Amino acid sequence: MLIRCFLLSIVSLVLIKPLLASDCALTVNSTDQMSFSTREIIVDSSCSFFNIKLKHIGSLPKYIMGHNWVLSSKEDMPGVVSDGISAGLSNNYVKEGDTRVIIHTKIIGGSEEDSVTLDTKRIKIHKDYIFFCTFPGHSSMMRGLLRLV
Ligand code: CO
Repeated sequence: MLIRCFLLSIVSLVLIKPLLASDCALTVNSTDQMSFSTREIIVDSSCSFFNIKLKHIGSLPKYIMGHNWVLSSKEDMPGVVSDGISAGLSNNYVKEGDTRVIIHTKIIGGSEEDSVTLDTKRIKIHKDYIFFCTFPGHSSMMRGLLRLV
């Protein structure tokens, strides 16, 4: 019994370690159906940096079904979206120098990907932030919550 417990502990250590190591990074998939694969991202405050990899697993080009991953406070989101539309595709639908945007990826199309790294010092603990796509018309469906805990 003792040996069995010992073996189980070894197994859990081996299994748990890679999970912890990947906790400071997440891949978000986006699709031709105008969706993100996740609606909520919890960032552990032990992470100094958190890497987001955005993948487009569809096949439509970015000028038809482009997606980006933009992070802001809830209050700032409407302004970021409307100014993003004016900024246009060549600016990844993000207004140049928009200080309301905490981080953002570029706009990607089918089978492309882009990554950004969040410095967690830039967000407050236990506050709800919102991530969304600023491609015109997408943010009502493509959005979710991000929280540092
Ligand atoms: Co989109």
